[in-house]
Amino acid sequence: MILDVDTGVDDACALMLAALHPDLDLRAVTCAGGNAPLPDVVRNTLTVLEACDHAHVPVGAGASHPLLERPVDARHVHGDDGMADLGWPGPKHAVDPRHAIDLLRETIDAAHAEGTPITLVPLAPMTNIALLARMYPESFARIGRIVFMGGGAMVSNATAAAEFNVFHDPEATAVVLDASVDHDVPVTMYGLDVFYGPQVTLADADELAALDERGPGALGAGLMRFMSHRFDSDRATIGDAGAVAMLVDPEAVRSERLPVRVELSGTWTRGRTIVDTRDWSGDMEHDPHGLAHAHVDVALEIDGPRVAKLWLDTIRQVGR
Ligand code: BDR
Ligand code: CA
Repeated sequence: MILDVDTGVDDACALMLAALHPDLDLRAVTCAGGNAPLPDVVRNTLTVLEACDHAHVPVGAGASHPLLERPVDARHVHGDDGMADLGWPGPKHAVDPRHAIDLLRETIDAAHAEGTPITLVPLAPMTNIALLARMYPESFARIGRIVFMGGGAMVSNATAAAEFNVFHDPEATAVVLDASVDHDVPVTMYGLDVFYGPQVTLADADELAALDERGPGALGAGLMRFMSHRFDSDRATIGDAGAVAMLVDPEAVRSERLPVRVELSGTWTRGRTIVDTRDWSGDMEHDPHGLAHAHVDVALEIDGPRVAKLWLDTIRQVGR
């Protein structure tokens, strides 16, 4: 798999799971500006991989800006450094010299040649993925599957209508959905309807903190304590990590295959994912109003405690 991230507290949780779960083979990580400016995202990503003893995974720096919008970060949520202001020492290893788009292309092509197509998991505004689709469509077509965090059928956060990743770069999301149709790449949308389901308590965080000093235990505990504190709660969501957990435990999530469009205009609705939940009565190929376009597996329900346990167990396993 490849992760595309804007690390980000919950992207950090996702990176930990992708690096540490024995069933997953993390081949590369690409970075985009989003939760924090790109240089912070890259530093945070390298830091997480080092803490998980995965400094060998190449990290590529990609788009600092959305295609059309001005960047608006979310450091008011994720901390001044974009990753919980934990005061960890900076990473010792460096970013890959390749641009993220080239790292994506080479990693996708290599996996395809091996006969095991890449599962691409974008957890950030999809600027890098849209650029890949436009620059190297033949490589985009070699992706086995895309599971992205973004959008929502019923729930929003950045505005009353839109989720942060899609709102940040609506054109990029639209480009990726269009390309997935053109190149027949299956897409799963892990959106806000399920995003807040898997949560870790402060008691869980205490248990993680006891596992190590500067490893996944301490990191996971620091991230979750920060977010609990930020939202004045005794628990916090692992957010983006749920999209990675879906690859390991697909039964924990109920999805429906539904038409999805991205709202690109609209005075109050720009960046909204329009999920057509009408009863199509098996007639999904018919598109009388032009709305049914990309047919996406939309995650609608999740067994939150089961997914949170998967994340915790993965870290506990390493700390043992
Ligand atoms: C998404 O936006 C960011 O805040 C999170 O990292 C997640 O990817 C949730 O809307
Ligand atoms: Ca993210």
